[in-house]
Amino acid sequence: MTEKILVTGALGQIGSELTTALREIYGEKNVLATDIQEPEKANDSYYEVLNVMDAEQISEIVSKHEITIVYHLAAMLSATAEKFPKKGWDLNMDSLLTFLDLAKDKKIKQLYWPSSIAIFGNDTPKNNTEQNAHAIPATVYGISKRAGEFWCNYYHEKFGVDVRSIRYPGLISWKTRPGGGTTDYAVDIYYQALEEGKYECFLSENSALPMMYMDDAIRATIELMQADADKLTIRTSYNLSALSFTPKEIAEVIKKKMPEFEISYNPDFRQAIADSWPASIDDSVAQKDWNWKPEFDLEKMTEAMLKNLKVKLNK
Ligand code: SER
Repeated sequence: MTEKILVTGALGQIGSELTTALREIYGEKNVLATDIQEPEKANDSYYEVLNVMDAEQISEIVSKHEITIVYHLAAMLSATAEKFPKKGWDLNMDSLLTFLDLAKDKKIKQLYWPSSIAIFGNDTPKNNTEQNAHAIPATVYGISKRAGEFWCNYYHEKFGVDVRSIRYPGLISWKTRPGGGTTDYAVDIYYQALEEGKYECFLSENSALPMMYMDDAIRATIELMQADADKLTIRTSYNLSALSFTPKEIAEVIKKKMPEFEISYNPDFRQAIADSWPASIDDSVAQKDWNWKPEFDLEKMTEAMLKNLKVKLNK
């Protein structure tokens, strides 16, 4: 049987690229893109406007399109959720429970839901943070992701729901800009380097954070979803690692390609969020369970970002 896939948050940073990748695998007409906004491309013929807070609408769409697999990406990220805590909690939590219930009731057979490095907190060991490290999140976003992980595990244990999840590090991509995250600086810096030749960073120069190029993140997501269920030992969410760098280090690599580029630092409220997160992640469980391996290092990612953004921005 051909799978019928639903992606929520399909216009977002991850969703836009994941939808394209899934359509290449499963076919254009088998991957329904949904988002709260109207589609960007008027010619996206397989698209529905969907508010993930509307459980009834979700249920209708799932049965109308005979959906079998859901990638539920719609969420409020860390910096925005600190400004709208209750809204962030409601959005991130209610919508997950709606999809978990659909899976419990066998209306869908598989669910993907992203977690984040934000589940870790100030007391977590910073370097090579392990899968089961102490995790008391310091942000509303982190609390919602940590609680969501427990719900995923609970539905798996109690009802046999096939839900899979990755704790993404900061994701860097050129196709769609992120919005409202703390790791967004590592995307903004490339745009500003090409457009202005300089960048004022909202984190301090030595704030090391775990990061990953989007191509690796998309491949990881699909590899996890296609892995044999009996190989998976984690049903909360998998640690996943590729890169760890500071604003100063990414600026130095950009400077190698653009010697005129200049960076300055003006940390804001997002510094405290970054300070509560790990600097690097141990993903040995993902490596062992489903052979995870990243392909992009900082140099290779910078090359890809500058090359693609030059074309996109007409520079
Ligand atoms: N990139 C996200 C953020 O900064 C972390 O999951 O909020």
